[in-house]
Amino acid sequence: MADEIAAQKWVLMVTAQTPTNIAVIKYWGKRDETLILPINDSISVTLDPAHLCTTTTVSVSPSFEKDRMWLNGKEISLSGARYQTCLREIRSRATDVEDEKKGIKIGKKDWEKLHVHIASHNNFPTAAGLASSAAGFACLVFSLAKLMNVKEDQGKLSAIARQGSGSACRSLFGGFVKWKMGKEEDGSDSIAVQLADEKHWDELVIVIAVVSSRQKETSSTSGMLESVETSMLIKHRAKEVVPKRIIQMEEAIKDRDFPSFARLACADSNQFHAVCLDTCPPIFYMNDTSHRIISYVEKWNRSEGTPQVAYTFDAGPNAVLIARNRKVAAQLLQRLLFYFPPQSDCDFNSYLLGDRSILQDVG
Ligand code: DP6
Repeated sequence: MADEIAAQKWVLMVTAQTPTNIAVIKYWGKRDETLILPINDSISVTLDPAHLCTTTTVSVSPSFEKDRMWLNGKEISLSGARYQTCLREIRSRATDVEDEKKGIKIGKKDWEKLHVHIASHNNFPTAAGLASSAAGFACLVFSLAKLMNVKEDQGKLSAIARQGSGSACRSLFGGFVKWKMGKEEDGSDSIAVQLADEKHWDELVIVIAVVSSRQKETSSTSGMLESVETSMLIKHRAKEVVPKRIIQMEEAIKDRDFPSFARLACADSNQFHAVCLDTCPPIFYMNDTSHRIISYVEKWNRSEGTPQVAYTFDAGPNAVLIARNRKVAAQLLQRLLFYFPPQSDCDFNSYLLGDRSILQDVG
């Protein structure tokens, strides 16, 4: 670091907010563990940033002696390979930064020596199957890129976020997003692209039923590794099933065709959990309440003659329910509260009502 910078006393800060995303065609399984390259394409919906999101403040100062990070107020180690990769990849793309008012001038080369402090906060339970790592790494990469004046486009940044956590690459875009698995060995074409922005299909309402906010027993990372190693079904899914579903889902989103959208999302969630059961030893992410929610939605959809609500479950028991419009969402909430009344012993009891996402504890 240039001596004149080392002697200076200033702090430069950037804060960013990134929402989480929910996959409607799931990513499950890697072909490269280090670069985080998936075995199939996936498609997700990015939630409204007002609700389930990560807020990250990154700061840099010549007085910082090492890189440090705090998650939800507690210091965590940055020594893990995924954090190190994201920091390295962003640092290597840093450019000059100048703040005339504060008298700050950081040259491209200085970034290699300057240290950062990162403070990140999730407004939802961490690691409970609500894709906290997706919002977390997307926000980390985005805020560091802003701080270091990285000039890459969102697609290139998504390839860096992907190396923090696969699903994170999709959180760099709003609306409906596809993560292309790519073909290149170096992962340069394994990036996220926006299929449609958040206004394209804004009558959809997402209701999240928090069945449990406890941390899951099997992380997505180790669960999908075990599935790739032991499940026959995952091979069939990645090769035969998902490629067709991706085409159909893109079509359903383009045409705002809710019946097709719901049919595909539910089938894909069920197949993902079937792969988990087909893994040795089997992985159980859903619990009895999750199964009851599925049966309930299936019955409701059948009784209406056409789907009103889609469900999807990630690596945890919490249900993500997508209602076709606000009227259905209101009915859904009423029915959920009736059939699954909130229990007093639940450790998470938020109730957020917003434009696109509603969070409700159903115990
Ligand atoms: C079930 O992105 O958390 O939510 O890449 O190992 O960090 P790593 O896994 P992660 O897996 C998410 C799996 C999923 C499906 C999805 O989001 O597509």
